[in-house]
Amino acid sequence: MEDLKKHTLFILSLLTAAAAAAAAAWQVPQVPCFFIFGDSLVDNGNNNGLLTLARANYMPYGIDFPQGVSGRFTNGRTTVDVLAQLLGFRDFIPPYSTAQRNELLRGVNFASGAAGIRDETGNNLGEHYPFTEQVAHFRQTVQVMRRLFRRNDTKLYNHLSKCILFVGMGSNDYLNNYFMPNFYTTSSVYSPKAYAAVLQEDYSRLLNQLYELGARKIVIMGVGQIGCIPYELARLSVPTSQTENRCNEKINTIINIFNNGLLEMVKRFNQATSNSKFIYVNTYKSSRDLVMNSKSYGFDVIDKGCCGVGRNNGQITCLPLQTPCVNRNNYLFWDAFHPTDVANEIYAMKAYNSTSASDVYPMNIKQLALI
Ligand SMILES: *[C@@H]1O[C@H](CO)[C@@H](O)[C@H](O)[C@H]1NC(C)=O
Ligand SMILES: *[C@@H]1O[C@H](CO)[C@@H](O)[C@H](O)[C@H]1NC(C)=O
Repeated sequence: MEDLKKHTLFILSLLTAAAAAAAAAWQVPQVPCFFIFGDSLVDNGNNNGLLTLARANYMPYGIDFPQGVSGRFTNGRTTVDVLAQLLGFRDFIPPYSTAQRNELLRGVNFASGAAGIRDETGNNLGEHYPFTEQVAHFRQTVQVMRRLFRRNDTKLYNHLSKCILFVGMGSNDYLNNYFMPNFYTTSSVYSPKAYAAVLQEDYSRLLNQLYELGARKIVIMGVGQIGCIPYELARLSVPTSQTENRCNEKINTIINIFNNGLLEMVKRFNQATSNSKFIYVNTYKSSRDLVMNSKSYGFDVIDKGCCGVGRNNGQITCLPLQTPCVNRNNYLFWDAFHPTDVANEIYAMKAYNSTSASDVYPMNIKQLALI
């Protein structure tokens, strides 16, 4: 009798597992396609074959990623990996550099470490795909999609109008350009305000190209508090224990000027186009929130990378085969520049379903998927 019960339970749990697997297999994502543009915060391997220092296809990068080392600049998932999961995609979105032709309809990731809005941004690190080139890759992708739809433009544009495009650019235009006066002249040519304005001009022009190619749901990710990353903390002359909130506020103020402009840009796009929706994700605010309320998010360490070298583990990024910290879920930063998997999960969650207009404007990604 006991045996029979056990047996029945076993069969039942097998059935449940099978049903769950079937449900997963038949799961339909909330949007048919997801395209990603950006820098190392969301790159998933596009730089692997390039001659550049902006590469992460070695251990311990990917130490907590299901498929191991991939070229992602973190221990596990990036923010867009988590977003893909929240949107109901069964598999992560593949990098453009290795994507198969038949994967293009579902979306690919064009992001490239060191990339910026300006073409020269990141050249100090080596080869990469600036935003201009990422947009060119999207144009080529749309051409292939058109052939896959047998040149039926009704079908093509209907499909494209449902895709979510995630765009996260700008961090490197500061980190690997404006704040690097030995390599770039921008900080002597432009005031912070003027620089933000020229960046926005280029950004708008390239976003407009995405719109003209058929994109209708576009997520613009703001720049986080760069003044609080281990790399900048390591460069502070005062120890971080003595600064008011452990950040370089001069840098944060300059980043804020850029972000305020981004929000205005998103409003302008929404006014100018009735058949599309642009949303602004306030990464600056959420990164501030993670620092200010670190304990409630479970972070014990917010001023050091889990893996790295020198002050704050922030002077050099995580080196090949270096041993990272063990308690990675308690670290906000994985290395000198990039958040950990758990931090990326929080960023993604806020972008996906926050109901506060100061986090996501004018709506969240979940709502964007539904319209
Ligand atoms: C293109 O696709 C639409 C929508 O599926 C269909 O109604 C139309 O007949 C197609 N046009 C051609 C020329 O096949
Ligand atoms: C947002 O979604 C996540 C994941 O589904 C969930 O855990 C969280 O409670 C949600 N938050 C809100 C405010 O709805």
